Amino acid sequence: MAVSLDRFRPMVERDIPAVLALERSVFRVPWTEEMLREEVAAPGRTYLVVDGDVGVTAYGGLMVLDTEAHIMTIAVDESHRRDRLATHLLLTLIDVALDNGAQHLTLELRVSNEAALRLYQKFGFAPVGIRPRYYADEDALVMWAVDAAGPEYRRTLDRIREEIA
Ligand SMILES: CC(C)(COP(=O)(O)OP(=O)(O)OC[C@H]1O[C@@H](n2cnc3c(N)ncnc32)[C@H](O)[C@@H]1OP(=O)(O)O)[C@@H](O)C(=O)NCCC(=O)NCCS
Repeated sequence: MAVSLDRFRPMVERDIPAVLALERSVFRVPWTEEMLREEVAAPGRTYLVVDGDVGVTAYGGLMVLDTEAHIMTIAVDESHRRDRLATHLLLTLIDVALDNGAQHLTLELRVSNEAALRLYQKFGFAPVGIRPRYYADEDALVMWAVDAAGPEYRRTLDRIREEIA
Protein backbone atom coordinates (compact mmCIF):
# COMPACT_ATOMS: atom_id res chain seq x y z
CA MET A 1 0.00 0.00 0.00
CA ALA A 2 1.45 3.37 -1.02
CA VAL A 3 1.98 5.94 1.72
CA SER A 4 0.76 9.47 1.08
CA LEU A 5 3.59 11.96 0.98
CA ASP A 6 1.34 14.34 2.96
CA ARG A 7 2.57 12.25 5.84
CA PHE A 8 6.15 13.41 5.30
CA ARG A 9 7.21 15.93 7.97
CA PRO A 10 10.01 17.03 10.32
CA MET A 11 10.60 14.70 13.24
CA VAL A 12 9.86 16.10 16.69
CA GLU A 13 10.64 14.80 20.15
CA ARG A 14 7.29 13.08 20.61
CA ASP A 15 8.08 10.88 17.55
CA ILE A 16 10.96 9.24 19.40
CA PRO A 17 9.02 6.17 20.67
CA ALA A 18 7.70 5.42 17.16
CA VAL A 19 11.09 5.99 15.54
CA LEU A 20 12.69 3.79 18.16
CA ALA A 21 10.22 1.02 17.25
CA LEU A 22 11.16 1.40 13.57
CA GLU A 23 14.88 1.42 14.41
CA ARG A 24 14.49 -1.79 16.39
CA SER A 25 12.58 -3.53 13.63
CA VAL A 26 15.03 -2.51 10.89
CA PHE A 27 18.59 -2.42 12.26
CA ARG A 28 20.67 -5.18 13.81
CA VAL A 29 22.20 -2.60 16.18
CA PRO A 30 19.53 0.09 16.55
CA TRP A 31 20.07 3.59 17.88
CA THR A 32 19.00 4.02 21.49
CA GLU A 33 16.36 6.41 22.80
CA GLU A 34 19.13 8.60 24.21
CA MET A 35 20.93 8.75 20.86
CA LEU A 36 17.71 9.75 19.11
CA ARG A 37 16.99 12.45 21.71
CA GLU A 38 20.49 13.90 21.32
CA GLU A 39 20.35 13.76 17.54
CA VAL A 40 16.97 15.49 17.17
CA ALA A 41 18.13 18.33 19.42
CA ALA A 42 21.66 18.68 18.01
CA PRO A 43 22.62 21.67 15.84
CA GLY A 44 22.75 21.31 12.08
CA ARG A 45 20.45 18.27 12.04
CA THR A 46 17.33 17.65 9.96
CA TYR A 47 15.28 14.54 10.66
CA LEU A 48 12.17 13.70 8.64
CA VAL A 49 9.52 11.07 9.29
CA VAL A 50 6.79 9.48 7.20
CA ASP A 51 3.72 8.71 9.34
CA GLY A 52 2.04 5.35 8.97
CA ASP A 53 -1.52 4.52 10.07
CA VAL A 54 0.16 3.44 13.27
CA GLY A 55 3.64 4.68 14.11
CA VAL A 56 6.33 5.82 11.71
CA THR A 57 6.82 4.10 8.35
CA ALA A 58 10.13 5.69 7.42
CA TYR A 59 12.62 8.24 8.64
CA GLY A 60 15.90 9.78 7.65
CA GLY A 61 18.40 12.25 9.03
CA LEU A 62 21.02 14.71 7.90
CA MET A 63 23.83 16.68 9.54
CA VAL A 64 25.27 19.73 7.80
CA LEU A 65 28.70 20.97 8.90
CA ASP A 66 29.98 23.88 6.82
CA THR A 67 30.35 22.66 3.25
CA GLU A 68 29.89 18.99 4.12
CA ALA A 69 26.64 17.13 4.74
CA HIS A 70 26.38 13.69 6.24
CA ILE A 71 23.40 11.40 5.70
CA MET A 72 23.04 10.11 9.25
CA THR A 73 20.46 7.40 8.72
CA ILE A 74 17.59 6.26 6.58
CA ALA A 75 15.15 3.48 7.36
CA VAL A 76 11.94 2.24 5.77
CA ASP A 77 9.55 -0.24 7.37
CA GLU A 78 9.79 -3.65 5.74
CA SER A 79 6.14 -3.51 4.55
CA HIS A 80 6.79 -0.30 2.55
CA ARG A 81 10.06 -1.08 0.82
CA ARG A 82 10.43 -0.21 -2.88
CA ASP A 83 7.67 2.41 -2.58
CA ARG A 84 10.36 5.05 -3.13
CA LEU A 85 10.06 6.44 0.37
CA ALA A 86 13.85 6.41 0.77
CA THR A 87 14.15 8.21 -2.57
CA HIS A 88 11.74 10.94 -1.44
CA LEU A 89 13.48 11.24 1.92
CA LEU A 90 16.93 11.49 0.34
CA LEU A 91 15.83 14.04 -2.26
CA THR A 92 14.44 16.26 0.49
CA LEU A 93 17.42 15.83 2.80
CA ILE A 94 19.82 16.65 -0.03
CA ASP A 95 17.77 19.76 -0.89
CA VAL A 96 18.11 20.86 2.75
CA ALA A 97 21.86 20.17 2.61
CA LEU A 98 22.32 22.22 -0.58
CA ASP A 99 20.12 25.04 0.75
CA ASN A 100 22.43 25.17 3.78
CA GLY A 101 25.59 25.49 1.71
CA ALA A 102 26.77 21.89 1.50
CA GLN A 103 29.06 21.14 -1.44
CA HIS A 104 29.87 17.52 -0.68
CA LEU A 105 27.69 14.72 0.67
CA THR A 106 28.93 11.72 2.60
CA LEU A 107 27.63 8.66 4.40
CA GLU A 108 28.61 5.20 5.47
CA LEU A 109 26.85 1.85 5.26
CA ARG A 110 27.51 -1.76 6.11
CA VAL A 111 29.60 -3.38 3.39
CA SER A 112 26.93 -6.11 3.05
CA ASN A 113 24.02 -3.66 2.57
CA GLU A 114 23.26 -4.18 -1.10
CA ALA A 115 19.90 -2.31 -1.10
CA ALA A 116 21.42 0.81 0.46
CA LEU A 117 24.44 0.60 -1.86
CA ARG A 118 22.17 0.61 -4.93
CA LEU A 119 20.10 3.48 -3.52
CA TYR A 120 23.16 5.63 -2.83
CA GLN A 121 24.78 4.81 -6.17
CA LYS A 122 21.62 6.01 -7.84
CA PHE A 123 22.10 9.28 -5.97
CA GLY A 124 25.62 9.64 -7.34
CA PHE A 125 27.51 8.47 -4.26
CA ALA A 126 30.74 6.60 -4.99
CA PRO A 127 32.76 4.41 -2.62
CA VAL A 128 35.94 6.07 -1.33
CA GLY A 129 37.12 3.66 1.35
CA ILE A 130 36.44 1.18 4.10
CA ARG A 131 36.24 1.92 7.84
CA PRO A 132 37.26 -1.37 9.44
CA ARG A 133 34.90 -2.49 12.23
CA TYR A 134 33.00 0.79 12.13
CA TYR A 135 30.02 -1.25 13.21
CA ALA A 136 30.65 -3.65 16.08
CA ASP A 137 30.33 -6.64 13.79
CA GLU A 138 31.11 -5.31 10.30
CA ASP A 139 33.15 -2.87 8.25
CA ALA A 140 31.62 0.29 6.82
CA LEU A 141 31.85 1.43 3.23
CA VAL A 142 32.36 5.20 3.07
CA MET A 143 30.70 6.93 0.12
CA TRP A 144 30.86 10.50 -1.15
CA ALA A 145 28.99 12.58 -3.67
CA VAL A 146 31.40 15.39 -4.46
CA ASP A 147 30.55 18.74 -6.01
CA ALA A 148 26.92 18.23 -5.09
CA ALA A 149 26.20 21.92 -5.63
CA GLY A 150 27.42 21.71 -9.23
CA PRO A 151 25.41 21.32 -12.45
CA GLU A 152 26.22 17.65 -12.99
CA TYR A 153 24.85 16.65 -9.61
CA ARG A 154 21.80 18.84 -10.18
CA ARG A 155 21.14 16.78 -13.33
CA THR A 156 21.42 13.57 -11.29
CA LEU A 157 18.77 14.88 -8.88
CA ASP A 158 16.57 16.09 -11.75
CA ARG A 159 16.72 12.63 -13.37
CA ILE A 160 15.60 11.01 -10.10
CA ARG A 161 12.79 13.55 -9.70
CA GLU A 162 11.59 12.86 -13.24
CA GLU A 163 11.65 9.12 -12.59
CA ILE A 164 9.39 9.38 -9.54
CA ALA A 165 7.08 12.14 -10.86
C1 LIG B 1 17.79 0.82 1.92
C2 LIG B 1 16.36 1.29 2.14
C3 LIG B 1 16.37 2.56 2.99
C4 LIG B 1 15.70 1.57 0.78
O1 LIG B 1 14.39 2.08 1.02
P1 LIG B 1 13.22 2.01 -0.07
O2 LIG B 1 12.20 3.03 0.28
O3 LIG B 1 12.76 0.61 -0.22
O4 LIG B 1 14.00 2.45 -1.39
P2 LIG B 1 13.36 3.08 -2.73
O5 LIG B 1 12.04 2.42 -3.02
O6 LIG B 1 13.37 4.55 -2.63
O7 LIG B 1 14.41 2.57 -3.82
C5 LIG B 1 15.28 3.46 -4.50
C6 LIG B 1 16.35 2.67 -5.20
O8 LIG B 1 17.19 2.01 -4.25
C7 LIG B 1 17.61 0.73 -4.77
N1 LIG B 1 17.05 -0.35 -3.94
C8 LIG B 1 16.21 -0.22 -2.90
N2 LIG B 1 15.97 -1.41 -2.34
C9 LIG B 1 16.69 -2.32 -3.05
C10 LIG B 1 16.87 -3.72 -2.95
N3 LIG B 1 16.24 -4.46 -2.01
N4 LIG B 1 17.71 -4.33 -3.82
C11 LIG B 1 18.36 -3.62 -4.77
N5 LIG B 1 18.22 -2.27 -4.93
C12 LIG B 1 17.39 -1.64 -4.06
C13 LIG B 1 17.06 0.66 -6.18
O9 LIG B 1 18.02 1.23 -7.03
C14 LIG B 1 15.84 1.55 -6.09
O10 LIG B 1 15.46 2.11 -7.31
P3 LIG B 1 14.42 1.29 -8.25
O11 LIG B 1 13.25 0.94 -7.39
O12 LIG B 1 14.10 2.27 -9.34
O13 LIG B 1 15.16 0.08 -8.72
C15 LIG B 1 15.51 0.17 2.85
O14 LIG B 1 15.74 -1.06 2.18
C16 LIG B 1 15.81 0.00 4.33
O15 LIG B 1 15.22 0.67 5.16
N6 LIG B 1 16.74 -0.92 4.64
C17 LIG B 1 17.10 -1.17 6.03
C18 LIG B 1 17.77 0.03 6.67
C19 LIG B 1 19.01 0.42 5.91
O16 LIG B 1 19.78 -0.41 5.47
N7 LIG B 1 19.24 1.73 5.81
C20 LIG B 1 20.41 2.28 5.18
C21 LIG B 1 21.45 2.40 6.21
S1 LIG B 1 22.91 3.09 5.55
